[in-house]
Amino acid sequence: MENQEIMQMPRIGDKAPEFKAVTTQGEIDFPKQYEGSWVILFSHPADFTPVCTSEFMTFATMAPKFEEANCKLVGLSVDGLYSHIAWLRTIKEKIEYKGMKDVEVKFPLIEDITMEVAKKYGMMQPGESNTKAVRAVFVIDPKGIVRTVLYYPLSLGRNFEEIYRIVIALKTADEFSIATPADWQPGDDVIVPTAGSCGVAKERMESKDEMHCYDWFFCTKKLAKELIFDKILKK
Ligand code: BEZ
Repeated sequence: MENQEIMQMPRIGDKAPEFKAVTTQGEIDFPKQYEGSWVILFSHPADFTPVCTSEFMTFATMAPKFEEANCKLVGLSVDGLYSHIAWLRTIKEKIEYKGMKDVEVKFPLIEDITMEVAKKYGMMQPGESNTKAVRAVFVIDPKGIVRTVLYYPLSLGRNFEEIYRIVIALKTADEFSIATPADWQPGDDVIVPTAGSCGVAKERMESKDEMHCYDWFFCTKKLAKELIFDKILKK
């Protein structure tokens, strides 16, 4: 049973596992209280460690950008509340890193000494560590559905611009019924759904309109960055 708990990993399309937890911003009821917002639940191995400190400073500095995209942030580690508080105070009062200083982490950081939440989200990966959570990221949509899952090892700091790109790409795909190609950034061409009939495939190949087809199954169209941000921010 113990191992099964450790191995539980929410998959893309699953309902986000529910929990109540104590955090640096009070108690939270997850994902219930985040209904209507996107939310990123992420874990880090331990307080007072260098990679985690660089990550928290970066994420906290980007928090207004995520807020503007209606996306809340929730952190977790297998440390206690007082350790979290002391670490976040140290970050604000003492650490200057890559031009970031006086950084206040305003999003909740979950205390999870019992590993109850970490186990529900597959954050404990014994091959990496029995006592520290790996660097997991769950992007959860306003209906509480897991839409993206990332797991990074202890030594590898995450790319938070990529996590932001994931949120924007998911929201754009939902809003405009398109898909996004490799390395897509807002303003780049997007992929239209593959033709579902021979007639549509032929029309697309012959069409001189806004679509560009590399072949019948691979067509793109323009989607202005301004239109994307106009439609998806705040949603
Ligand atoms: C770090 O955040 O620096 C770290 C934490 C656990 C293991 C290795 C590095």
